[in-house]
Amino acid sequence: METTHEIIPSAKRLIKSLRDIGYNFPMAVADLVDNSIEAGASKIDIMIGFYGNDSYLRISDNGKGMDEEELKEAMRYGSERDYSEEDLGKFGLGLKTASMSQCQRFSVASKTNLIIHQEIPVFCWDLSHIEKTNKWEILDLKKESGIEFIKAPLDKHTGTVVLWEKLDRIINFKNPEGNAARKKLMSMCRELETHLGMVFHKFLSNEIPKKELEIYLNKNKIKPWDPFAKKEPKTNMLSPIKIKLVREDFEGKIILQPYILPSKEEFSSSQEFENLSGPVKWNQQQGFYIYRANRMIQSGGWCGLRTQDEHTKLCRIELNFPPSFDNDFKINVAKMHVQLPSQLREEIERVTKPAVSLARECYGGEKKSNIATQINKKKFIETPSTINLINSKRLVSENFKKSSSTLFSIDEIEQRAKEFASKYEGKIISDVFSRLRKKLFGRQNE
Ligand SMILES: Nc1ncnc2c1ncn2[C@@H]1O[C@H](COP(=O)(O)OP(=O)(O)OP(=O)(O)O)[C@@H](O)[C@H]1O
Ligand SMILES: [Mg+2]
Repeated sequence: METTHEIIPSAKRLIKSLRDIGYNFPMAVADLVDNSIEAGASKIDIMIGFYGNDSYLRISDNGKGMDEEELKEAMRYGSERDYSEEDLGKFGLGLKTASMSQCQRFSVASKTNLIIHQEIPVFCWDLSHIEKTNKWEILDLKKESGIEFIKAPLDKHTGTVVLWEKLDRIINFKNPEGNAARKKLMSMCRELETHLGMVFHKFLSNEIPKKELEIYLNKNKIKPWDPFAKKEPKTNMLSPIKIKLVREDFEGKIILQPYILPSKEEFSSSQEFENLSGPVKWNQQQGFYIYRANRMIQSGGWCGLRTQDEHTKLCRIELNFPPSFDNDFKINVAKMHVQLPSQLREEIERVTKPAVSLARECYGGEKKSNIATQINKKKFIETPSTINLINSKRLVSENFKKSSSTLFSIDEIEQRAKEFASKYEGKIISDVFSRLRKKLFGRQNE
């Protein structure tokens, strides 16, 4: 038997290092919102209070909650649980790393049923306790006095409450009670409102069946920000494009949905045009909007496939990928960054080129933006190639043109022909296609 030694990480060193893994304030709050959505919450309340060093953020939801054992497990760095295909969580870290990135102490209370007098479990990670003990220890607060503020939102329903205190990363001023600190917190609230309205816009506008959501920030309802201006009459939604992907163990697809937004003159009002310019303004907001399980991960930018150009700024392309391709898209813990898999880049560039050209023509006034009404919006354009994410080989390497708009590969035609063939004819079709491949490409089969 091998000799082993268990090496437990230094709690104070590791927890402190994990405070800096790349969250900013809005991203950190968004990670907690992910958890609430996953717990089935339809309402999330965020309260931010300015009291100098006693400032706080409290986020509560009406989701299914956790019992004491589940909550204890949830507090563990790298908590264990099974994830389903549509789950927003992945690493078992978000609650802890997002919270600690902004504060030195966070507590979580949770309630799973409506039994009156049920004791609500409350656990807390406190950096000063970790400093003292250097142990992976959480505080059990349920019997402590003065914790009514954490539990209060759970008076009438199930759910979970997270309270951030000692906001050292936010209130880092010489005079924590002063005007500068107050102003900073106020501006962070505005930033948070914009960020949550953007990242969760599909949930907030009830686009996702059975996942209706309302988020309130200091009692104000957050409005969704739809980057594609779908409510503008002159926005063009082009045909969605489906790209099939395979890994060794499973198959899936990504969907690209290009939009050409109206030019300034074509917007219903200049106010709406301004609103659609987005957090980093029109030029920088062009490009891909990448979603994972309907939650936005990236807003704008061409992922290095092209440069941002004033002439193509009306083009915004939605790209959805399922969590089963997380590793290929290299999602990070803060869920604010992905990379397009290298095997996919060329194909994405190819299939989105027509949308970018159309945006350029619309910008230049050569075409009016209602051009897309000529395009069948419901029809998927299915790319003929299947991209293999393991060995970067296109499973189908040769296409030929059937019409000006549709491409079929030899393999696809063979497959189609076989669908209409009898058992006897199927064998003949295989032989004919095998000879055809040999003649065209010098090979029998791929
Ligand atoms: N608001 C909540 N309601 C119910 N359960 C929750 C809530 N927040 C967290 N949990 C539970 O705690 C677990 C740990 O949450 P945490 O955010 O740390 O990791 P995760 O969501 O599993 O993965 P990720 O690191 O990708 O966020 C979750 O998997 C979930 O089971
Ligand atoms: Mg999470």
